[in-house]
Amino acid sequence: MISEILALVKKHENWRGKECLNLIPSENVMSPAARSLLSSELGHRYTARERFYMGTKFIDEIEQFGEELAKDLFGAETADLRPLSGHVADMIFAACFSKPGDKLMCVSPEDGGYPGLWHEGLAGLLGLKVAPFPFVKDAMKIDVRKAEETIIREKPKLIIFGASLITFPHPVKELANIAHEIGACVGFDGSHVLGLIAGRQFQDPLREGAHALFGSTHKSFFGPQGGIILADKRRGEAMKAKIYPRFVDNAHWNRIAALTLALAEMKEFGEEYAEQVVRNARALAKNLHGYGFPVKCERLGFTQSHQVILDFGNYERGREIAEKLQRANIIVDCVIRLGTCEVTRRGMKEEEMAKIAELIKRTVMDGESPEMIKREVAKLCSEFQSIEYCFKQ
Ligand SMILES: Cc1ncc(COP(=O)(O)O)c(C=O)c1O
Repeated sequence: MISEILALVKKHENWRGKECLNLIPSENVMSPAARSLLSSELGHRYTARERFYMGTKFIDEIEQFGEELAKDLFGAETADLRPLSGHVADMIFAACFSKPGDKLMCVSPEDGGYPGLWHEGLAGLLGLKVAPFPFVKDAMKIDVRKAEETIIREKPKLIIFGASLITFPHPVKELANIAHEIGACVGFDGSHVLGLIAGRQFQDPLREGAHALFGSTHKSFFGPQGGIILADKRRGEAMKAKIYPRFVDNAHWNRIAALTLALAEMKEFGEEYAEQVVRNARALAKNLHGYGFPVKCERLGFTQSHQVILDFGNYERGREIAEKLQRANIIVDCVIRLGTCEVTRRGMKEEEMAKIAELIKRTVMDGESPEMIKREVAKLCSEFQSIEYCFKQ
């Protein structure tokens, strides 16, 4: 039994870790140092705010260290590393500043918004009504003028910027005044773009009028899987007062140690990393477009984030292509939304993006055998096994 479990993990590790080109924008890889902390002693321990458990002196210091780093990195008055995931961070923000019957304004899942915020997700759970941001589909942008009118008309209590498909900054600056005037609490779900925000290559929601920035720590931000909340003093303290006992009890201290290390890496290497992530996304988009792939937003330069969106018109066609690419060990989702975080972390640059585009084209357009392409993918991956933008031990 044990050998079976270990063998499965090993097979996965060899396949996804060594032989695949991972282009899922929701994923990334940790540095060896951050990753090693996930299996540290901390993973066995509990702490509680009221010092209910003994034995926590070093854990408390780690938490303090991480919070200070996060505040510094994001220029936030408060930081909290306890949310167990991006979704939980969303939940904390939405639940703390709304009551049932209030209205939440966010990007509709139809336009690439996070389904977890919508009727079937947190809005349903918390009894919130939803008002979608008016959206310019071709440009993948919120329509600012119409959004102003909608905010005045609908008077949402919560406005959450950010999305799952996000290629360009959202108009926080443009809409913040009106949102503040009607008394809305403004959040930015930075689950996808947190690493680009930390690396100063996207937008800066907390300076643009958002009261809080929150989300996952493992997509463009290269930490362990988990969540984070950064906020102004008033909202940050209000959330801190409720996180325990409402949303998180034990916060998984091995994760928080790994996150603290990733925050330190981001402070040191974040700008260089995020700049290359975006450069790689643009290079990948340009090369794919050159081959005739339907890359969204050509007129706008394709993307300013880690994402490249291919529009095949329907999900079934996307799935068919994603499955074909998987046979060549090129891993994407079914939207198809390609992400350059992980390949960048492995040290790939524009030249490799051109090669990846070529491999995708040969698999999808030229009908070459995925099993043959797989060999070239494995060779490319074997040349990029170390993790960059981190402290070398
Ligand atoms: C915009 C957005 N917010 C939140 C989440 C949820 O993140 P997590 O998986 O960390 O709970 C996702 C997931 O992909 C997302 O795209």
